[in-house]
Amino acid sequence: MEEKVLKIVIGNDHAAVELKNIIREHLESKGIEVINVGTDTNDSCDYPVYGEKVGRAVASGEADLGIAICGTGVGISIAANKVKGVRACVCSEPYSAKLSRMHNNSNVLAFGARVVGSEMAKMIVDTWLEAEYEGGRHQRRVDLIHAIEEK
Ligand code: RB5
Repeated sequence: MEEKVLKIVIGNDHAAVELKNIIREHLESKGIEVINVGTDTNDSCDYPVYGEKVGRAVASGEADLGIAICGTGVGISIAANKVKGVRACVCSEPYSAKLSRMHNNSNVLAFGARVVGSEMAKMIVDTWLEAEYEGGRHQRRVDLIHAIEEK
């Protein structure tokens, strides 16, 4: 049977063009399909636009997972989290990235181009992708997060 190719949407503002391209190449070198919805110029732009694009691509199923990068990872993750069904986590190190998958079933990984170097960013991404959601008791908590969206 043919193996399904993982599709990752990646979005960024002007602070993260270079790191986005490094991560994009890194993912593509692993055979992952990358959908780029970020800006490709260094002209100042608004991170919420790109956080929403990443969030919508994940929530609609166009992409399996998302990666969102701005200066800190904070603004773009806040924006992505406003899209229903998105669980975006800012992770500046691999431990949080791993646990964000195992316990929170994060579907968008965010980090800051002004916070982490490119090798750390690659390690964060790889750790996040390798980790698996544990389900079980964590599902109730994830369900409780999404119940907030209905209130
Ligand atoms: C842009 O200067 C910066 O504010 C943005 O990249 C991000 O860090 C926001 O959270």
